[in-house]
Amino acid sequence: MSRTAVIRGRFDPVTAEDVAFAVRLRREKQYEKIVFVPVAEGSLPRETRQDLLQAALKPYRRFCTGEEPQDADVYTSGAEEKEAAVRQGNYALAARGIRKLLAAEGLYFEDLVDACCNPHRAAHSRAVADLCRQLAEAHGLDGDLAWRAGMLHDITKGRSEEWGRRILERYEPEALQYAPPVWHSFTAPVWLKQNLGITDHELLAAIRNHTLGGSQTPLAMILYIADKTEPTRGYDSTGEIALSMKDLAAGFALVKQEAAEWLKKGGANG
Ligand SMILES: [Fe+2]
Ligand SMILES: [Fe+2]
Repeated sequence: MSRTAVIRGRFDPVTAEDVAFAVRLRREKQYEKIVFVPVAEGSLPRETRQDLLQAALKPYRRFCTGEEPQDADVYTSGAEEKEAAVRQGNYALAARGIRKLLAAEGLYFEDLVDACCNPHRAAHSRAVADLCRQLAEAHGLDGDLAWRAGMLHDITKGRSEEWGRRILERYEPEALQYAPPVWHSFTAPVWLKQNLGITDHELLAAIRNHTLGGSQTPLAMILYIADKTEPTRGYDSTGEIALSMKDLAAGFALVKQEAAEWLKKGGANG
């Protein structure tokens, strides 16, 4: 038996189960070193998966990641299902040291949007995210944060009305006064806190206000504008976008006024 063990896996991303497996393995077989080797293709490039491994393994003196050493005992990670669950939004199953990182850097948000939204809504979310980034950058604000807000804003929109009612009764009862199509803007922050561990107040507040336009922080205005004017909506919004690029508050006021007129004519909110 070698003094070194290798654990091969996709590690897309490394999960708490992988780390627990290695801890057990070391205790039982007394390995001096355990090397986590990411193999095969993943949703994230190998380099990024390795960076995540590095962050996850930092507290463990005898665990590392890198190229596969020769003459090591080889094991295989059995956590593919857990990895898939992480990519679909259950960040609590990821290794402890990377949970915050995944949410803060928006890793797996592409997978998340595809898992939680139908193709039409996923395309809308990406278009909103791109426009959010452009608007933020035009105003010297954080483009990555704005992109993340866009990607996540409709994450609970595909949930049933019963699910929405249950969440709101428990966490946001005052939001029940609004029509069900509005509920997703109030259930999304709850879901994002519980599943992705997101606590960024500015991000959550922007999402909470994206349907009704109730907040005028720059990020909230950007998300509101982008949600209503992104190109897949199918109407000519070039004037609204151009104005918003120059003057955020003026663009926000115009888009909000147009949304109110649309509602008066019997259009849907959402
Ligand atoms: Fe939306
Ligand atoms: Fe929405």
